[in-house]
Amino acid sequence: MTPPVAPVAPSAAPPPHEDGADQAERVERRWAALSIVILVLLVVLAAFAGLRQAAMPQSRVETADPRRLHLEGEFIDSNLGSALEADGSVTVRGIGQQYSFTPPCIVVPAATPVRFRLTSADVTHGFLIAGTTINLMLVPGYTSSLAAQFDTPGERLMPCHEFCGTGHEGMWGRIRVVDKTTFAQMAANSRRLRCVE
Ligand code: CUA
Repeated sequence: MTPPVAPVAPSAAPPPHEDGADQAERVERRWAALSIVILVLLVVLAAFAGLRQAAMPQSRVETADPRRLHLEGEFIDSNLGSALEADGSVTVRGIGQQYSFTPPCIVVPAATPVRFRLTSADVTHGFLIAGTTINLMLVPGYTSSLAAQFDTPGERLMPCHEFCGTGHEGMWGRIRVVDKTTFAQMAANSRRLRCVE
């Protein structure tokens, strides 16, 4: 005799079809709202950043009037080259113009903090020292500044790497890194140093 089948307890009825659809729709709406919030946030951030940059240009921008470089200020010819500062560091000032650098050969000491300060007299040029991470744009109207240090003496090429006209390929300079003592001796004789051939 088979035992009587226990009556199946009435289980909770599965949710009606409408409820599942409603829930899916709620989730979809929530995601849609979230993505709209993210979009709005990004637009607000982009607008804020743009307006802020337009209203407050970088405080560090330094200008140099390309028409007056040779007449006055930091980039007059007699001030170009490497200068030994009171604190022992070296400041190098130079100009890029179609199609050369002034000075065409820069001399700096090894193992010494060097600051480059450069500008352009005409169009945008590139300033790159081969084999290093030194890479600047020389933009007319602005002073480009970069701190660097060379560990070992040697000579490196300094090509213009921004197309600046028909003579661009021929726009090259050189940088000569000499040892500290040699540089100090050179600096004793001259206020602004360039390579001596
Ligand atoms: Cu200067 Cu290319």
